[in-house]
Amino acid sequence: MTVLSSILLLVLSSYGSEALDNGLALTPPMGWLTWQRFRCNTDCKKDPDNCISENLIKRQADCMVSEGYLGVGYEYITIDDCWLAKERDNNSRLQPDPDRFPSGIKHLAQYVHSKGLKFGIYEDFGSKTCAGFPGSEYYMQTDAQTFADWEIDLLKFDGCNSDIKDAKYGYPAMAKYLNKTGRDILYSCEWPFYNWRDNVKSNFTEVRSTCNMWRVFSDIQDSWTSLTSVIEYFVKNNHQFQPFSGPGGWNDPDMLLLGNFGLSYDQERVQMAMWSMFASPLIMSVDLCNMRQLSKALLQNKYLIAINQDKAGVQGKLKVVKGTVYDIQIWTRPILPQGCYAVAILNLKSGGGPKMVETTFKELDMNYTTKYNITETFDNEYIGTFGLDEKLIFWVNPSGVYMFTAIPATSDDDDSLKFKPWRK
Ligand SMILES: *[C@@H]1O[C@H](CO)[C@@H](O)[C@H](O)[C@H]1NC(C)=O
Ligand SMILES: *[C@@H]1O[C@H](CO)[C@@H](O)[C@H](O)[C@H]1NC(C)=O
Ligand SMILES: *[C@@H]1O[C@H](CO)[C@@H](O)[C@H](O)[C@H]1NC(C)=O
Ligand SMILES: *[C@@H]1O[C@H](CO)[C@@H](O)[C@H](O)[C@H]1NC(C)=O
Ligand SMILES: *[C@@H]1O[C@H](CO)[C@@H](O)[C@H](O)[C@H]1NC(C)=O
Repeated sequence: MTVLSSILLLVLSSYGSEALDNGLALTPPMGWLTWQRFRCNTDCKKDPDNCISENLIKRQADCMVSEGYLGVGYEYITIDDCWLAKERDNNSRLQPDPDRFPSGIKHLAQYVHSKGLKFGIYEDFGSKTCAGFPGSEYYMQTDAQTFADWEIDLLKFDGCNSDIKDAKYGYPAMAKYLNKTGRDILYSCEWPFYNWRDNVKSNFTEVRSTCNMWRVFSDIQDSWTSLTSVIEYFVKNNHQFQPFSGPGGWNDPDMLLLGNFGLSYDQERVQMAMWSMFASPLIMSVDLCNMRQLSKALLQNKYLIAINQDKAGVQGKLKVVKGTVYDIQIWTRPILPQGCYAVAILNLKSGGGPKMVETTFKELDMNYTTKYNITETFDNEYIGTFGLDEKLIFWVNPSGVYMFTAIPATSDDDDSLKFKPWRK
């Protein structure tokens, strides 16, 4: 056994609670989802290119591959709400809207698979979905089997139109029915989000043993205000759910906004950096066929993806806050090989120019070694070797981020200590 794999084993076995035992999501899931960008647009007559339909999914699947997203790890393509017909069929089975999905879901799943991608779908454990389509209440076993028959690879399970008291039973019941189908289906739950909304405390031990990823907070919107509200939620509540994130199950702060309309370039860098620090699922929601080059480069940045996909899967923590309340935050995340870290310095304040931020490894509790070599992450630019007390000075743009990795400095060529960009 190599040193690396024994460290990995140690890390993997150190989680206090068991993950859902389906062998999936050993690193944060990566993919694409309709909701943030395409919402519940069902008007294919007036807006044929953007309505929720098999044409949209096929076109996005094509671009996910041809534009290089699959090549860097994005693999799940998922339809959110509004794919269903208004009624179940005569055998009580779910059926898609016949006008927008004329070839049926199984055909669509097979098309997506033919591209080398995986296919995800959406349901709700209440009586209706959030947009008012048939829910899975009373039909969970039938629906799980329908999804398996259709060759679905991921289920996003929402919680509208239900009593929060039932979530405790509903989410695990669906997990059981999915398991009974025998098909590998990644299970994405909204459970802790509904608990939070209704002031119920989440038991993350139960959530982790039930789901492969779980939304912890409200829906993200395409704006800096919404993005910072998610980060602020993590600042205040990370201690509750950080320990439960790891191989097999992940805290989900919701979709990536990159490539849409609401964020500046620096703000897009902030989301990509923080979702990597949080070990969050990387789920895009954007028109993959019409993407700004800069946003595409960020979404495909292999150094950020490497941090996000680190196999130890330890979610980062906020270490130091500077400036006035919460405007300069320094987050650290241990990554493999042992002793290495990713560090993100956030400047949440807008306006003015870049801000100078000073820190030391000592201040960040990084004392695994006496000297670290640091490399800026976005451009993979080597910065230098620094001792624990040496002053580190960074310039961070307004509503921006500076990110680096630190590896223990060695004089010999110990290859096991070199940080390796993740490749598929
Ligand atoms: C179902 O659960 C069992 C026991 O936890 C597990 O061994 C098995 O791999 C699961 N099967 C699927 C398809 O998830
Ligand atoms: C379902 O049943 C109703 C009432 O019995 C019938 O009118 C309808 O044609 C059936 N639909 C299908 C798709 O079989
Ligand atoms: C959370 O759930 C686990 C597993 O069901 C249980 O053992 C534990 O007591 C629960 N914790 C709380 C605080 O209720
Ligand atoms: C080293 O860092 C850890 C946290 O990572 C901290 O608990 C410990 O006090 C530090 N030790 C010294 C000598 O600074
Ligand atoms: C750290 O930097 C020093 C000086 O540039 C170099 O000799 C050493 O090989 C580096 N260590 C690692 C692990 O890259």
